[in-house]
Amino acid sequence: MAIKDTFGRPLRDLRISVTDRCSFRCVYCMPREIYDDHEYLKRSQILTYDEITRVARVAVDLGVSKLRLTGGEPLLRREVEQLVERLSGIDGVEDLAMTTNALQLSKKAPALVAAGLGRVTISLDAIDDTRFREMVDTDVDVDVVLRAIEDAATAGLGPVKINAVVRRGWNEDQVLPLAEYFRNTGHVLRFIEYMDVGSTNQWVLDEVVTSQQLIDAISSEWPIEPVDPNYPGEVAERWTYRDGAGELGFISSVSAPFCGSCTRLRLSAEGSLYTCLFASSGTDLRGPLRDGVSDDELRGLITQTWTDRSDRYSELRGATPLPTPKVEMSYIGG
Ligand code: GTP
Ligand code: 5AD
Ligand code: SF4
Ligand code: SF4
Repeated sequence: MAIKDTFGRPLRDLRISVTDRCSFRCVYCMPREIYDDHEYLKRSQILTYDEITRVARVAVDLGVSKLRLTGGEPLLRREVEQLVERLSGIDGVEDLAMTTNALQLSKKAPALVAAGLGRVTISLDAIDDTRFREMVDTDVDVDVVLRAIEDAATAGLGPVKINAVVRRGWNEDQVLPLAEYFRNTGHVLRFIEYMDVGSTNQWVLDEVVTSQQLIDAISSEWPIEPVDPNYPGEVAERWTYRDGAGELGFISSVSAPFCGSCTRLRLSAEGSLYTCLFASSGTDLRGPLRDGVSDDELRGLITQTWTDRSDRYSELRGATPLPTPKVEMSYIGG
């Protein structure tokens, strides 16, 4: 039986950040002027694979069936496939996925599949190489990511989802090229409204392109229609091309918040539990884990954190003062 929070939302997903580092410097996530000279977590501050597995095991016991590895960039964590192997071995895990920038994915996909990873979601905000480089602010060819998408699908990590964050003034000219590129590929492109996560990206509402605006633009080229969600509370709204060219998705956290069905708990790389992407603080598990906490006590800590939960930040956005300091995307993994 899943535990429920104060609004009756069951605990179903655990998003696990395995590192706060990333090989990219996306302009909306880790602006170079801040993150090149940032104090990252030290090795000793980061949960070990044993510690993460222990937390995941207890969370699964409390109702979690979906695990997602995030970062920063999860493939930067050494031999992350060893963690995948342990997590995939937990009875009750129905979905084990990873969100990655794909820089090292071509190389690592086979080992990840062998370890039991089910699927990947890849971040990609442009098809044009110049635009891509501007978005990630890193000297990498877009072809590296495009190839990794194919390699991941070939290795068995498909259908691959592609996450494209649209930031006005930066990459809205890439919306149609992205759509065109992924039509008829079997990969699922999802457009994400630019969110006010953290405070280093200088988010302003004017830079948000709403899903409706994107739907209108895409529809005028290739008509699309909505389809039912895969499961209740799915983050992305699913749409398909009327001409049969496949599926795409829209994640509208700004224009149509989905807190009412939010079943996600987040574990930071340093072992704190966050009940919302926009929370300012979490429940420390690393201290108790290193002080010899029992499984029952760990269970109690996670249960308490979830049953006390009343977050619905995206629904309140603008209406109430923000919790500060807001946690950064690269720290909590989205
Ligand atoms: P699927 O299970 O494949 O549908 O994964 P997902 O869409 O939940 O995960 P992914 O890591 O691909 O996240 C997609 C986008 O949705 C990212 O920008 C996330 O930050 C955002 N997102 C995911 N969960 C939440 C959430 O609970 N609240 C908000 N506001 N955004 C979220
Ligand atoms: N708004 C929306 N999505 C974001 N991501 C990172 N920062 C933001 C933001 N400010 C996306 C990444 C990645 C996913 C986990 O979150 O592109 O695909
Ligand atoms: Fe790295 Fe992903 Fe953030 Fe880009 S969005 S800087 S790839 S963590
Ligand atoms: Fe869940 Fe917080 Fe996102 Fe709302 S804003 S959907 S409560 S993580």
